[in-house]
Amino acid sequence: MMSRGMLISFEGIDGAGKSTQIKALERELRAKGYKVSTLREPGGTKISEQIRELLLDSSSRINPVAEALLYAAARAQLVQDVVRPLLDEGAIVLADRFIDSTIAYQGYGRGLDIEGLHRLNFLATGGLEPDLTILLDIPVDLSSRRRQGMLSDRMEKEGMAFQDRVRRGYLEMAGKLPRFRVINGSLPEESISAIIIDIVVRFLKGDKRD
Ligand code: TMP
Repeated sequence: MMSRGMLISFEGIDGAGKSTQIKALERELRAKGYKVSTLREPGGTKISEQIRELLLDSSSRINPVAEALLYAAARAQLVQDVVRPLLDEGAIVLADRFIDSTIAYQGYGRGLDIEGLHRLNFLATGGLEPDLTILLDIPVDLSSRRRQGMLSDRMEKEGMAFQDRVRRGYLEMAGKLPRFRVINGSLPEESISAIIIDIVVRFLKGDKRD
């Protein structure tokens, strides 16, 4: 079923600057009069936040398949309870991570079967895909420098090689899927915001060219 709203996802390795950029975009779109909601994955509903705690708790020992299923479970609940209703109301939904995180982290990062993960994503979302995906791309060493001194969650404790596989996975997906826009996340914050606002505003006006 066609919904009236628009789903824009933000992706990238840890420390890419997604949250800061989403906040800036949300502010800008609101100022332009759009109805905007921001959600994070995993999270956004009571059940999904509980699953988030399990997933990110450094003391959890979770096998890769169980991990993929838990991310999918959190997503299924969020899509049904929150994302679909918002889209049906015509909102712009900004998602801090969505289906592509599962392909990048559990697929390219952990090495699970990518086709199987696409099917799992489909099951969790009922086939809902983002209209537009902003990939903030940064090198892995910048990611670890940005996170220095911060407490690491279970996923962030994975080493540089893991993060690098995830980054390469994202870039491969971006090369294949037209809904992706890749932005150099090493640029100054304000330059990135300006690029994102330009992309999104043009997209909302129906000009889907780059
Ligand atoms: P966050 O730190 O951006 O909130 O994301 C939580 C962590 O979960 C991050 O390290 C990426 C990871 N993740 C996956 O591995 N698979 C997924 O499907 C999602 C949504 C997140």
